[in-house]
Amino acid sequence: MKVALHALCFTLLGMSLGSCKNADKNLADDAVKPVKSQANNAYRAPSTRGPVPRNPDMSLSSSFGKDAGVTFSRVSVSQPFVAMTFDDGPHPSNTPRLLDMLRDRNIKATFYVIGRNVDMYPEITRRIVAEGHEIGNHTYTHGNLTKMGDDSVRNELMKCRASIAKATGVQPRTLRPPYGALLQRQRTWIHSEFNYPTIMWSVDPRDWQRPGPSVVTSRILSGATPGAIILAHDLHAPTVDAMPATLDGLLKKGYKFVTVSQLLAMKPKEEAPAQASVTPSNP
Ligand code: NI
Repeated sequence: MKVALHALCFTLLGMSLGSCKNADKNLADDAVKPVKSQANNAYRAPSTRGPVPRNPDMSLSSSFGKDAGVTFSRVSVSQPFVAMTFDDGPHPSNTPRLLDMLRDRNIKATFYVIGRNVDMYPEITRRIVAEGHEIGNHTYTHGNLTKMGDDSVRNELMKCRASIAKATGVQPRTLRPPYGALLQRQRTWIHSEFNYPTIMWSVDPRDWQRPGPSVVTSRILSGATPGAIILAHDLHAPTVDAMPATLDGLLKKGYKFVTVSQLLAMKPKEEAPAQASVTPSNP
């Protein structure tokens, strides 16, 4: 399925390059070189019907220490913070559409990008960072790391990190292993060598099975708890279709959205006895 999707992406990219090439003689001059991606300046945010609930402005630290931990699937927090994570992008149409939805709601999320997709769509990757989202390492080719030797794993992580750094100027700070597959031994050496905590999740809507947007929404809304790390894939259009109702539903329940690093940074502070208060802290 993955192969078929990627083949489709290449086909779509080829089609859009073909039509642009005809419209722009400057691009035609460059046609012999592979053009990796197109700027997305023409894209306009769709107008939203009625007021959209907004995530509050928050100035939260994203500094977490190496002693914070090697693996997380959620973080113990006393306030209703959640981290939305989107895997397997960037995707040429779904990711910009999702970014518009997040911007409308003042929500910052974390994108676990595949390095080879970053190389294909560096402008979209730059937009992710420019709009305040966090980027995480999801390897270069999205293989199963448990089946690789340490040198191959290291190469996967370094290549993805280099692609992100080249496209955006920033470096990922956390790892999400493809398929959630990573041995404890691997998590430990990756943490000591790359400083990456391995980030799993506490809410999985199984959106890759394409159950339909309303099911994705209801699974996320029923699974969310304070400190949750929520898994989703911006690779899939129906997942992005599910996001307006999902994000608005979580906001209406009082959840506040933070990045994974912001959530991790809350951990030491939250080791004090939990407070009942749900007032947002705004340090
Ligand atoms: Ni993935």
